[in-house]
Amino acid sequence: MQVGIDQISFFSPNYYIDMVDLALARDQDPNKYLVGIGQSQQAVIPPTQDAVTMAANAAEPILTDLDRQQLDLIIFATESGVDHSKSAAAYLQRLLNIQPFARTIEIKQACYAGTYGLMQARDYVELNPTKKVLVVASDIARYGLRTGGEVTQGGGAVAMMVTANPRIMTLERDNQFMTKEVMDFWRPTYATEARVDGKFSNNVYQEFFVELWERYRKVTGKDINDFKAFVFHLPYTKMGLKGLRQILPEADADQQARLLAQFEASRLDNKKFGNLYTGSLYLSLLSLLRHSTDLVAGDRIGLFSYGSGAEGEFYSGIIQADYQQMLVPNQLDDLLAERIKLSIPEYEAMFQATLNGAADRQLDGAADPALYVLTGLQQEQRQYEKQ
Ligand code: HMG
Repeated sequence: MQVGIDQISFFSPNYYIDMVDLALARDQDPNKYLVGIGQSQQAVIPPTQDAVTMAANAAEPILTDLDRQQLDLIIFATESGVDHSKSAAAYLQRLLNIQPFARTIEIKQACYAGTYGLMQARDYVELNPTKKVLVVASDIARYGLRTGGEVTQGGGAVAMMVTANPRIMTLERDNQFMTKEVMDFWRPTYATEARVDGKFSNNVYQEFFVELWERYRKVTGKDINDFKAFVFHLPYTKMGLKGLRQILPEADADQQARLLAQFEASRLDNKKFGNLYTGSLYLSLLSLLRHSTDLVAGDRIGLFSYGSGAEGEFYSGIIQADYQQMLVPNQLDDLLAERIKLSIPEYEAMFQATLNGAADRQLDGAADPALYVLTGLQQEQRQYEKQ
């Protein structure tokens, strides 16, 4: 039996900044951001959105009434959790009106957790082939104003439905994974912004990719010619290109050109939203599905998942015949068309207005066009609404 991704959906809030504006405001050459980092725009998250609302907004378009009655496992991957104890998945279950006899769990391992969630979902469906599992990966990438990491911020959520006989992509059982305890990127529980050793994190990412790819080749006997495309965790899109370039010499010139063209398709959307942390790899997969012009059923896609701290996984998936019909129609095009561009001072003000501290407050949910919004804090309880 094949198990994998049957539906996929994306959400990011309706504000962004242009990377040329940010570069000029930070006295940088715009080409450093556009080419050297590989980002053209960055999602800005208003106070009325958080990991929970973004996940709900991403999941809503792929849920039917029957799903709400039948789903019994929701896996919520995030490193932007809103509570040290209560799971974000419990909020999600109520907001999405999913029946009470469901298991709900939040999982964390930096940007890697979404992949673990998918593999747990795959295992569950293999044991229970009539079941579906909702996996969401939702995050806000925050480094701080005027920091080295600022150009790699962003945010959004990806929701995926894992089922038997998936119509988008199977999850093959060829996973290679590894963990090494390093301090490349972390966020202490008292901090709202990540700490990062930027250059070191780039190096660890690439070492993990090369090591896992080597191991994958040895264990499976497959090589670079077995793949139609490689998609990467994209903290910024140049990072994936650096990864891919490490293995390209294993292919002849034609295969190199094909893989580079697929990589361009897989980073188009990530360039406009920035880092989603645990959702980034799956936004890149969605970008490939949306923009590649020659994917066909049976194509093997290699997926590299990396989460600082650090844990990595490489595995493959097989594209299914109906993948195009399964994408939410016009979803990203509409999101992009409706986004409002902020000036850099407006972005800085919004960045600092994020819900912080314990004081009661009311937020203007009606000003946010999203279906699910955060409307404030009352007695230290987040107030979520469907509008
Ligand atoms: P930086 O020091 O500002 O940038 O930091 P740089 O000086 O290294 O330049 C970046 C690139 O731009 C270089 O290219 C330059 O040559 C080029 P590269 O050598 O890397 O190929 N450049 C130009 N190109 C064209 N025209 C120009 C020009 N000027 C320079 N005029 C850094 C960049 C990414 C380190 C920083 O932004 C940062 O610390 N970001 C956050 C950390 C990060 O994203 N790490 C990625 C790996 S770790 C990971 O993926 C996990 C993560 O998602 C977290 C999680 O798991 O939860 C982060």
